[in-house]
Amino acid sequence: MISRKKFIAGNWKMNKTSADGVALVRDIVTAVGKQSEVEVVVCPPFTALESAGHALEGSNVKLGAQNMHFEASGAFTGEISAPMLRAIFATHVILGHSERRTIFGETDELVNRKVLAALKNQLRPIFCVGETLAEREAGATLKVVQTQVERGLEGVNKDGAASVVVAYEPVWAIGTGKVATTEQAQEVHAFIRGLLTNLFTEPVAQKMRILYGGSMKPANAPELLAQKDIDGGLIGGASLEARSFVELVTAAAAVK
Ligand code: 13P
Repeated sequence: MISRKKFIAGNWKMNKTSADGVALVRDIVTAVGKQSEVEVVVCPPFTALESAGHALEGSNVKLGAQNMHFEASGAFTGEISAPMLRAIFATHVILGHSERRTIFGETDELVNRKVLAALKNQLRPIFCVGETLAEREAGATLKVVQTQVERGLEGVNKDGAASVVVAYEPVWAIGTGKVATTEQAQEVHAFIRGLLTNLFTEPVAQKMRILYGGSMKPANAPELLAQKDIDGGLIGGASLEARSFVELVTAAAAVK
C-alpha cells in the first residue's frame, strides 16, 4: 500500500487581522516549521495572506488562500485571482468550501471553473465536498458527494489530479462540535477514493490526499487520522490557536 504524507491545513475563515495572523504563524513555525513528516498549510483571510507568507518564509509551513476567482484579471469587483495568489507565493487554495456553496451560492460548475483555473496556475486546490444534515438523514450522502466530486473535477486530467487535495467536510459537523464517527468518515473517504480511481486510475487515486474536516480537535484527531483513507484534516476552530493546531500536526505525525 502506498503511504501518503499526512496533511494538516488550517482554515482561519474570517478571523485574524494581519498582525494577529503573523503572531499565530510565528508560533506555528517555531513549533513545527522544521518538521517534514506532515505537510502543513495555513489559510489566512486575504488581508493577512502576504504578511503570513513572510512570517513563514524559510519554514516548511505553506500558504493557502480560502477562495479565488477563475479569471486571471478583469472587472470583478471584490475578487482576487490565481496569479495574484501565486505572486505572494501561495501554493494552495481552498475551493468549494460549504460556506462558499451555501452562503455565497457557489455551484459545482463555478467550483469546477475555479479548480481548473487553480491548476492552470500551478496552485493546488483543497477541493471541498460534503453533505448537509438533511441529505444525510435522507440517505443521500454518497450520491451528493459523488455529484460534487464528479462535477467539481470535470476536465481535470491525471497530472492535475495528482495536485488536488480533496476535503470531505460533512456540513453538519462544521463548527458544531458534532464530529462524524470514524466509521461515517472512513466510509465516505473510501467511497471518494473509489470515485477518484474511476476518474483518474488507481495509482493516481492512491496518491491523492483526502482530508476530513468538521470539528476536528486534538482529542478526536488520532482516531480519525488512523483510518485507512483519512489522510489529514482541514481544521477550522482548532486552527485559530497555535497550541491546538500544533497538537493536530503532532497527532498526524504520530500516525503510522
Ligand atoms: P471546524 O473545524 O471549525 O468545524 O471547521 C471545519 C471547516 O469548515 C474547515 O474548513
